[in-house]
Order: sequence, then structure tokens, then C-alpha cells
Amino acid sequence: MIAEMISPLSSGDKIGVLTSGGDAPGMNAALRAVARVGREVGFSMLGVEDGYQGLLAGRLAPLDIAALDDAARRGGTLLGTARSKVFPTPEGQATARRVIREAGLVGLIVIGGNGSLTGARALLGAETASGVPLRIAGLPASIDNDLAGTSMAIGVDTAMNTIVEACDRILDTAAAHRRTFLIEVMGRDCGYLAMTAGIASGADTVLVPETGKTREELAAQLARVIEKAVKAQRRRILVIKSEGVAIKTEDLKADVDAVLRERLPDVDSRITVLGHVVRGGSPTAFDRLLAARLGNVAVRALFEGYTDFMTGWVGPGVQGTVTAHDPYVALVPIPQVLEETAKLHSGDSPLAAWRKRVYREVETVLE
Ligand code: F6P
Repeated sequence: MIAEMISPLSSGDKIGVLTSGGDAPGMNAALRAVARVGREVGFSMLGVEDGYQGLLAGRLAPLDIAALDDAARRGGTLLGTARSKVFPTPEGQATARRVIREAGLVGLIVIGGNGSLTGARALLGAETASGVPLRIAGLPASIDNDLAGTSMAIGVDTAMNTIVEACDRILDTAAAHRRTFLIEVMGRDCGYLAMTAGIASGADTVLVPETGKTREELAAQLARVIEKAVKAQRRRILVIKSEGVAIKTEDLKADVDAVLRERLPDVDSRITVLGHVVRGGSPTAFDRLLAARLGNVAVRALFEGYTDFMTGWVGPGVQGTVTAHDPYVALVPIPQVLEETAKLHSGDSPLAAWRKRVYREVETVLE
């Protein structure tokens, strides 16, 4: 599939940009890039407050480059974000189309995840004030890294670093007390963050939803890992569990405690849920750069006449349309992104199969 190209846009055209869904560190850096490159090509760039919710309320204002220069090193999103329930309804769609027409937008850049891109496509080709069909561009941003078409989404690297830093701290106290820690990290349906952070922080094992294990299997895995580590006189045991694993962390701990009570009465375990801590904080240099590069190409591609694409971080020539702007950034058609993402979520794609296989391999390697 190649990205769709219609007529080029012109200097002075109005482009809206919004951040949507869960915030991700690097969203501000993306906004800054979009604002600066938009100015460079001559677009009039309007920021939409609070995602689709703000779009429905017509809350649009020119992007403030000075404020974004300052915000680019901070987490969250200066525009605000939301998960709108009204936008997907027929009334919401009609309102969004009216606002777009009245604001004079000819393009909309959506920075967010799977749900946000799905929402953007509903507006594709909407009638604009100048008569040209509305163009849509997406930037992948979600700490979960559950979007296809990009090897990394904006925010993933920062979230991973935050988890690793937290684990480093926990390992200090774990080793001091000879304790076992079960750390739960975000990732709604996807174990990517848990697995990558687990490898980077030296976890003894990682529990992710993709392996599809039952409660009994997970408890047995934990008991085995703990027994082995205790026998090896290990002073600390670190287990990372993805939020996406459907069994509650406290239930797993109770199961394992029950199994080990007789055999290893000295095993002392604690739970730490990192939760939203992982979503905040200053973006890493990688996330700032990734956001800047994806934003740069999105704006330039809109100007050239492309539509219905997400800028994805891929190796040169891997998939999508690679422009002269940056050989590492491809224009991946959003229908392809969503189709592949659905397969990724259902476990029915080569990437999903690879992740599942490699997670099992890594489990063994870590043990
Ligand atoms: O999609 C990003 C994410 O942080 C998930 O990891 C998590 O399950 C979810 O958002 C939490 O959403 P909320 O902030 O709305 O509770």
C-alpha cells in the first residue's frame, strides 16, 4: 500500500492539530515540530484544545511557538487531551464537520493512538470551506507501543526509562531486605513496555498478556523463578507484570505465597504498581527527536498533497512511502495501520506472532 496523494496545499491554508487519548511524553515536542514546520511551509497552524472534545466545542487557537519551545522538554500535552464519548456518535461527527468548515481547516493532524487515528478517519474527505476535501495526518503517540506501522510510538522510550529507573531504585531496597518485588506497569493490552523494561532492568521474569497463560500457569512460573533464585542465594528477585495480564497482581502474590509458605517460609514479597507515574515526566532525547521527525514529515507531506497517512518510524524501505525528507520516516496509509493494528491486537499478524515467540524465548533466557 502506498500513501494517498491528492492535490497539493498552499501557503496560508489552515491546518488543525490535536492530541488525543492517553497523553504520552513527547506530545509537546511533536506539537512544537508541527508548529515550526507549519510556519516554515506557510500554513496557518491552529491548536485544538482537549482533543476531539475541544474540536466539538470549537476551541481552536493559533499554536504558540514560544510556549511550545518551552513545553517541548516537558511531559503531558500543552493542548490537553481527552477521550471523547460524543465524537464517535452521528451528532458528534456532524458537529465536528461543521466546526471544521467554520474554522476554515483543510487538514487535521491527530497525535495519539489507535482510537485517535480511527476517529480521524471518520473525518476524512469532509467538506471544507474552500471546497477541497479535508486531509488527515496522524502521528503515533502511546506509551503502550501497540500501533502497527511504526517501530516506536512517541512516549514509549520515556515510559521505558521511567520504569527502569523505578526498578533500579526498588532493586536497592529489595537487595537490602532479600525481598521479592512484583512491579506492575501500564500497557492496556500489550506487554511491550513490561518486556522491554524487564530486559533493561534485569528482571528475573516478566508476565505479559501475549503468552496467554492461565492464573495457575503464571503462579507456577513465579514460584519456580523464586525458588530458583532463592537456591542461587540471590538477594533480590524482580518480577515485572504488565497491566494487560488479566489476573490481579495481589491475587498472583497470594497464590505464590500459598505455594511457597511451607517450602520457603522466609520469602518476603511486596507489590508496587507504577501506574500513571510511567506516563508523565520529561521526554527522553529519543522521544523528543522521534516526535520532531515524525511531525516534520507529516506537515511537509500534507503540504505536498498526501492524506490519510500516519508518519511511522521504520527502517529505510520497509513499508509505506518514504519521502526525500527523511529516509527513516515513512508515510503509512492509515487504513493499513488500522488493519495491521487489529491483527496485532488479535494476535493474527507476523509481528504479533514474533512478539509472542520472542517473549517466551526471553522468559527462558531470564530464568
Ligand atoms: O493507552 C495508554 C494507557 O496509559 C494504558 O497503558 C492504560 O491502560 C490507559 O492508558 C489508562 O488510561 P486512563 O489514563 O484513561 O486511565
